Amino acid sequence: MNTFNESRRHFLMKTGLGVAGLTALPSIAKAMEGMGTSGDMMMPKITPNKASQNFHPDVEFDLFCKPAAIQILDGSKTNLLQYTARLIKGPKDTLTSLPNSFLGDIIQLHKGQKVRVNLHNGLSQPTVTHWHGLHVPQIMDGHPMYFIDSGETLVYEFEVINRANLNIYHPHQHGVTGKQVYFGLAGAIIVNDDDEAKLDLPSGEFEIPLVIQDKQFDGDNQLVYSSMMHNKMTGVTGDKILVNGRPNFQLDVASRAYRLRVVNASTSRIYKLAWNDEMPITVIGVDGGLLEQPEVKQYVMLAPGERLDIWADFSGRNEGTQLTLKSLAFSGVLPKMGMGMHKGAIPVGSEYPILTIRVTKKVSETHKLPMRLSTFKHYEISDTANPNNPIPIGIKEAPMSMLLNGRPYEFNNPLPSERVKVGSIQLIEIFHAHGEMKNMKMDGDGEMKRGGMGMGGMMDLSMAHPIHLHGQQFEIISRSFRGDSTAYDTVKDGFINSGLKDVVLVMPMEIVKIIKPFQDFKGLFLYHCHNLEHEDMGMMREFSVE
Ligand code: C2O
Ligand code: CU
Ligand code: CU
Repeated sequence: MNTFNESRRHFLMKTGLGVAGLTALPSIAKAMEGMGTSGDMMMPKITPNKASQNFHPDVEFDLFCKPAAIQILDGSKTNLLQYTARLIKGPKDTLTSLPNSFLGDIIQLHKGQKVRVNLHNGLSQPTVTHWHGLHVPQIMDGHPMYFIDSGETLVYEFEVINRANLNIYHPHQHGVTGKQVYFGLAGAIIVNDDDEAKLDLPSGEFEIPLVIQDKQFDGDNQLVYSSMMHNKMTGVTGDKILVNGRPNFQLDVASRAYRLRVVNASTSRIYKLAWNDEMPITVIGVDGGLLEQPEVKQYVMLAPGERLDIWADFSGRNEGTQLTLKSLAFSGVLPKMGMGMHKGAIPVGSEYPILTIRVTKKVSETHKLPMRLSTFKHYEISDTANPNNPIPIGIKEAPMSMLLNGRPYEFNNPLPSERVKVGSIQLIEIFHAHGEMKNMKMDGDGEMKRGGMGMGGMMDLSMAHPIHLHGQQFEIISRSFRGDSTAYDTVKDGFINSGLKDVVLVMPMEIVKIIKPFQDFKGLFLYHCHNLEHEDMGMMREFSVE
């Protein structure tokens, strides 16, 4: 309750003081005239952005959010929420629908395109859409402050400045992001560019998007989203694994190389991907696009929000061969406290199949995996503005709350460490603050400092968190682990640390250092746990890029 009143007070303080402190955020300042709040959310209600006359889009489409009933299982249709899109202007392959799926169309964009999206809210509740992985200005980023009510339209206009990569669009409605995603609102965005095109990777029918999710169905095929506290703490999980919106997903392939574009759009489930035979997983890209060279792994961890670009070569396999992509057994990502899993759900960390591949056509086509995939700018610690003073992201788990830097989410109330100069490159350290309460001290500004890594005698609620930062992708420069390695050993060889990332899975007792550029745009950019139940519990903060 304290935190509620406290953030309310901070918010009123800021608004009461007028907009003097908000000059870097003209859109907020403007919106504060005649501001209302939305329920208990402390979020201003901003007049939805409209199309601007002097923006000339190369691509324009309508994106509707609306209720739908889709046949997923035998028997009753499942009621859910759905994105549907309609192209107004641009290349025909901009929008591709997934067969028999509730998921939104695959949106294909090209670097350099100017894009306009008209988001229409046909739900009976507020929503806003975020382009996870795209580097866009604050007001185009789907920050929850830009939510629109039922019946309203929000116009996004931005230029695609990302390198080629795979992204996700999903709601970012404050407090109900997890629920809206779970009930169906999600889709993939593929960005292409000329550098990637030169590689001649498998494309068209040989480039397959695979959106992995889990959901719980009741006896009448309706989705169950548990609101019980222990399910929120661990994250809501389901009894069915869906790929591209379908259960028991089967993919028929020819005996040749494929490019699998994998997204984990589950709200909280972490996967440990592996093929069921001897074939290793060949990873050619992650969140921020292609790696410099492929990484060959026995298994790969995939946490919510993370993406993988997998080279899967079925050449030499006979017609009729079957292959399973599985999640293998692992441990250490959930609290040791024995907090109940969602009843009937497939336990996280157990072994289960995700999809089946059948070779149905023998072909002689041979596509060679390029050994050099891409180049990108690497930052060194010496390039950062704060080589000796990393920005802390301290994860803290408590029975009723999940916090970052000791604080719940507060709109536009950054800690001193969360104010960042635009154009700067920052060293950031993500760590578990849990178990070291005695060592935690607040400095004069209420900022949390990290103490030693004592385990203390605390209740051990520590678990793994996929930490996501909006804006530009970052590089992982180190992971260090200081705990009991029994559980860690079951996951540690599955991390891809060599590419550009926007989500990083941080295990209990692990310290992850990243370098992230904050270029191009000023404003408020979120960072949060992409266990969406955690995000909704307030495990979210903002960087104020100034
Ligand atoms: Cu995928 Cu802030 O979200
Ligand atoms: Cu995001
Ligand atoms: Cu979390």
